[in-house]
Amino acid sequence: MNPTRLVEMASAFYESSVLFAASDLGLFAKLGEDSERTRTFVLAMHGRAMGIGQAVVPLLALSGRKAVLDVGGGPGTYSILIARAFPQITCTVLDLPEVVRIAEEIISQAGVGDRVQTLAGDYHTIAFPANQDAVIFFGVLHQEDPAAIRNLLRRAHGALRQGGSIAVLDMMTDASHTQPKFSALFALNMALTTPHGWVFSEDELKAWLVEAGFTDFNCRPLPSPMPHWLATARKA
Ligand SMILES: C[S@@+](CC[C@H](N)C(=O)[O-])C[C@H]1O[C@@H](n2cnc3c(N)ncnc32)[C@H](O)[C@@H]1O
Repeated sequence: MNPTRLVEMASAFYESSVLFAASDLGLFAKLGEDSERTRTFVLAMHGRAMGIGQAVVPLLALSGRKAVLDVGGGPGTYSILIARAFPQITCTVLDLPEVVRIAEEIISQAGVGDRVQTLAGDYHTIAFPANQDAVIFFGVLHQEDPAAIRNLLRRAHGALRQGGSIAVLDMMTDASHTQPKFSALFALNMALTTPHGWVFSEDELKAWLVEAGFTDFNCRPLPSPMPHWLATARKA
């Protein structure tokens, strides 16, 4: 078998297994109610993000930036990698309290506790810290409905300094929501296993970002075999 195809299949299996494990454990409905299960889920996210992060972090234009807000940052993996790559940056990982407790252990073990802090709370309601240079939503927006996504993006815009940037890493589809096939299957997974899960299109994301006040939208697929897209925009 073609090695690229093999890696694609392994990646698809890994994404699905993390998702199904989470769903089977009832984590999307009851994250945090069972501490051992929450830990299993957070550590699975960490392993997955460590791989993807090696490809994504070098693509982030964060030179000269100082403050990054990682919304729904889970284990804090991307913030850890950003802090390592950009020694001048301090990151804030915002996630649910039960997840943040585990993230703090991971961050401490990674040796970047002085520049990666946590913020425990519900991202729908907690005030985003102000004066951010960048706000990232990595693997987060596909679990929210359009109204919630628009609200999160509007609040991210409010939290940014002028000239600050937003980055969204996620599966995306074309306007038909049926291609690429892996994104369409992931949308099906999300729809079956979560209350609001789906996969949006690049055009939908662009429209929401423009509505929230962002300019300079850019969106590109990650290098194969990763099935994700990285979208960025700027607060003018
Ligand atoms: C698929 S994970 C992505 C985590 C991380 N960004 C990554 O890619 O490794 C989604 C994250 O959103 C968090 N989350 C879900 N609903 C949330 C809410 N209402 N407030 C804060 N975090 C939330 C979950 O706890 C989880 O860590």
